[in-house]
Amino acid sequence: MARRRREELEVGVSHLDAQHRRLVELLVGMQAALIEKQPARELRRLAAALTLHARIHFSDEEMIMEGAEYPGLGKHREMHREFTDGILRLQTKLRFRRTEQFAELLNFEREWIARHLDEQDGQFSLWLQENAVEENLGKVGGAAENCSIPITVSA
Ligand SMILES: [Fe+2]
Ligand SMILES: [Fe+2]
Repeated sequence: MARRRREELEVGVSHLDAQHRRLVELLVGMQAALIEKQPARELRRLAAALTLHARIHFSDEEMIMEGAEYPGLGKHREMHREFTDGILRLQTKLRFRRTEQFAELLNFEREWIARHLDEQDGQFSLWLQENAVEENLGKVGGAAENCSIPITVSA
């Protein structure tokens, strides 16, 4: 029987799901700060928090994929790099006070991450359910020991 996607934007690994929610919150927070014309200092603080959080999340997610022997890891890692490059460009726009370009890029990054969570992370979730849950949950849990914080994996 074919497995179905979990709740929208959930991969079923609680640690990753929590990180995904935080990523979206940070992007939404930046957009709100921009609309409210918050000082550049606040935008820089949010951009730095986003960069740090995205790096930790991508590293944790890739470690879990590696532990589960996910065949799509190489391509997935490249996509993460693409997003990280984008947020570094966001920081550059802020530094040079290019507000309009910053807003455009921020929009792009928000759409990018929503699509990535739905499609690519969603594919990983399905793959975990279809191929790896029973055999590899132990490995996923093992890889998780090296993550930034302890995680639990729901079957
Ligand atoms: Fe991902
Ligand atoms: Fe992710």
